[in-house]
Amino acid sequence: MNILILGSGGREHAFAWKISQSPRCQKLFIAPGNAGTSKLGKNIPIDPTSFPEIGDFVVNNNVGLVVVGPEVPLAQGIRDYFDQRADLRSIPLVGPGKIGARLESSKDFAKQFMEKYEIPTAGYATFDQTQLAEGLEYIRGEQLPIVLKADGLAAGKGVVICETYQEAEQVLREMLVDSKFGQASAKVVVEEFLQGIEISVFVLTDGQSYKILPSAKDYKRIGENDTGPNTGGMGAVSPVPFADREFMQKVEDKIIGPTIEGLRKEGIDYCGFIFLGLINVKGEPKVIEYNARMGDPETQVVFPRITSDMVDLLLGAATGSLDQVDIQIDPRNACTVVMVSGGYPGSYQKGLVIEGLETPTDNLIFHAGTTDKEESVVTNGGRVLAITAFGNDTKQALDAAYGTIKDIHWDHAYYRKDIGKDLLSWPNKTLEASTD
Ligand code: AMP
Ligand code: GLY
Repeated sequence: MNILILGSGGREHAFAWKISQSPRCQKLFIAPGNAGTSKLGKNIPIDPTSFPEIGDFVVNNNVGLVVVGPEVPLAQGIRDYFDQRADLRSIPLVGPGKIGARLESSKDFAKQFMEKYEIPTAGYATFDQTQLAEGLEYIRGEQLPIVLKADGLAAGKGVVICETYQEAEQVLREMLVDSKFGQASAKVVVEEFLQGIEISVFVLTDGQSYKILPSAKDYKRIGENDTGPNTGGMGAVSPVPFADREFMQKVEDKIIGPTIEGLRKEGIDYCGFIFLGLINVKGEPKVIEYNARMGDPETQVVFPRITSDMVDLLLGAATGSLDQVDIQIDPRNACTVVMVSGGYPGSYQKGLVIEGLETPTDNLIFHAGTTDKEESVVTNGGRVLAITAFGNDTKQALDAAYGTIKDIHWDHAYYRKDIGKDLLSWPNKTLEASTD
């Protein structure tokens, strides 16, 4: 079958790498893709939010499965568009409709959903532009630090952890009154700060049954020891040592089960990935966010650990037959280290030639911000490559990934040297939950 992946990051390169291994995959297309995906399939210069163009491409190229990588086309309703067009309605597509994607595209919707279905999360209140005074008063009555979140999609910048009341008040004003994130901050969720270690858990569902994918921990800050501004992710490891059977059972019983059940009760026909951003508060998992897609760079460690045929899983999710598909996980540890352009997440140069990509390696080099230029691969974004390696423990995987990084060069390349370090002292006792 012909398969189309939408997106252009490391996540989509990892999708393409895994999907292209399936004997069921004939022609693979990636729109728009990057220099890495061009080696596995055909890059198509279509924007993932240009729905009519995508629809026409699907029909004209006999595409039998569409896999949506990023959140924006989901939030804008790509599934709804497919459902409305008679010639696309029957094409399997992995990704929820606009309403399901609201778990990610509206923090207030997600909080109300969790409240209704008693899913553990931080205490909160939501304020709109007419409620500035109430919001300011609420903040004063809460403990510090306090978390303010723009309701809508804000490219990962809409969450501010405030250490003082003055700061929180100013941020609330900026978001509500000065429309700092435009319509996305027309409502603001003010939330209790949760203290603990974060973990990302991924679920693939057809709306009825689900599979729990390997868990991962990502590293968001640009600087070592989690300092400096937030980025789109500087590295990830999988599995996460504290996500043992007991913890994962709690995640399944208290969070995953009620989430799937809640979506069903709401009449939301959810097909696709659910990414649970969790925090482990003294052994109890709590949700800090839902995303309606896979994570990046988590996919670059999660997908390599799935040994089952990915097309079977994706088609199962897209056609309501996921209960008939088995998921097998590689017990080894994986890590990925992201190499970024110097200056990222601020301004950076593009078009720099990347050297060393041809050096033989057992590890995986996933491309994100790269493009082909004449005979070379050049940088084309802030996050450029993610180097994934396996090991019998986290340390071995990290040593292998950093070994490969030494062979890769471009001017001003930067990467964190402490990915996974905080987990090295945990006993390696992970046994992830299985949902079969
Ligand atoms: P989000 O965009 O919701 O993923 O939030 C970005 C980051 O802010 C998260 O990855 C957490 O590190 C942090 N964060 C969000 N909500 C909370 C919370 N209630 N308590 C503590 N940290 C939080
Ligand atoms: N790694 C976090 C995200 O993809 O949003």
